[in-house]
Amino acid sequence: MKLAIHPHENGFSDRWIKYCEEKGIAYKIVSCYDSDIIQQLDDCDALMWNWNQNDFRAALMARQLTISLELRGKKMFPDFKTSWHHDDKVGQKYLLEALDAPLVKTHIFYVKEQAEKWLDQTTFPKVWKLRGGAGSINVKLVRSRADAQRYVNKAFGRGFPQIDGWGRLKDKFWVLKRDKNFNAVKGIFKGIARLIIPTELARFSQREKGYIYFQDFAPNNNHDTRLVVIGNRCVGVRRYVRENDFRASGSGIKAYEPELFDKRCIKIAFDIAKKLDVQSVAFDFIWDGDDPKIVEISYTYIIGPFYDDCPGYWDDNLQWHPDKVNLQYYQMEDFIKYVAK
Ligand SMILES: Nc1ncnc2c1ncn2[C@@H]1O[C@H](COP(=O)(O)OP(=O)(O)O)[C@@H](O)[C@H]1O
Ligand SMILES: [Mg+2]
Repeated sequence: MKLAIHPHENGFSDRWIKYCEEKGIAYKIVSCYDSDIIQQLDDCDALMWNWNQNDFRAALMARQLTISLELRGKKMFPDFKTSWHHDDKVGQKYLLEALDAPLVKTHIFYVKEQAEKWLDQTTFPKVWKLRGGAGSINVKLVRSRADAQRYVNKAFGRGFPQIDGWGRLKDKFWVLKRDKNFNAVKGIFKGIARLIIPTELARFSQREKGYIYFQDFAPNNNHDTRLVVIGNRCVGVRRYVRENDFRASGSGIKAYEPELFDKRCIKIAFDIAKKLDVQSVAFDFIWDGDDPKIVEISYTYIIGPFYDDCPGYWDDNLQWHPDKVNLQYYQMEDFIKYVAK
C-alpha cells in the first residue's frame, strides 16, 4: 500500500504523515496543483488532501480532481461524498433536505423579484449567510424588511466579497476584549493590514452574487453544539456565543464535559453521517425551541487543542469512551482499513 499526501500548512497532513511514519506506511508527498497529478499517482493507491475554504485553487479544482481519481480507482480522503458540499451552504440545503435531516428552515432565491415577494410576507429577524466562509464571518442577523432589502440589492448587484474585511476586523476587537493579550493586539494590526493589502484569497476569489440565502432565526441560543463524526466515533465541543451576539462559531469560548451534550444531537449526527456516507463530518447544532436543528456541515475543521482537549468520544450506541482524542489519527485508522480492502 502506498499513499500520496498533499501537505497543507496548519492542515491535517502533518499528523497524517506522523501516523504513516509511526506505522511504517509508505507515502509520497505530492502537489495536487501539478498539471500531471493524475500520472504522478500511478504508483499510489490513495490520495489524501485536506483542502479547505481558504484555498482558492482547491475551490477551482478539488471536486473535479476527486471524482476523476475515484473513477480511476484511487481511494480518496476526503472522497467525493465527504467533500463536494464543503464550504457550500447552498449545496447543503438541498443535500440535507433530500436526506430529511433536521436543517433549520432555509430559503434560497436566484431571482430578485422572488426574493422580494417572499420578504414581503415573512417575519424578522432572519439569518443571512453567504454559501461559504467559516468562523461566522459571513453570517449576519437581518432585523427588518428594509435591512433584508439591502442584502437583496447587493446580492443582485455588485455582490459580496468572500472575505468581509471589516467584519473580520470587528471580530479581532472581540478577540482583544476576550483575551487582552499581545497576540490579540497583533490580530488587530493584521486585520487593518488586510484591508489595505488584500490576501491572495481576496485577490483571486470571485464575488458572491446571483443568489440570496436566508435561514429562520432560532432565538435564545447561548451556544451551539459542534459534533464531529468519524466512523463510529462522535466528538463534541460546546461553543458559546460571543458577547451581545448570536453566533458561536469562531468565538473561542468552549466546554467539553460529556454531560453538556444532548443524546438526541449525537443520535442525529450518527444517523445523518450514515445517510451521507462520509468519512468525516462536523455538524453545527442549535436549539429551535426544544428541537435540535442543524445549521451547517463541514468535512474539515481546525486542528490542535480545540479538539485534542476533548476527553473522549461517543460510539454509535451512544456509549462514552474516554480517550486521548486525535481526529486525524481516527481518520487515518479508518482510511487505512478502507485502502487495504
Ligand atoms: N439560523 C440560525 N439561528 C440562530 N443562530 C444561528 C443560525 N445559524 C447560525 N447561527 C449561529 O451562527 C454561527 C455561525 O453559523 P454557521 O452557519 O455555522 O456559519 P460558519 O460557517 O461561519 O460557522 C453558528 O455557530 C450559530 O451559533
Ligand atoms: Mg459553523
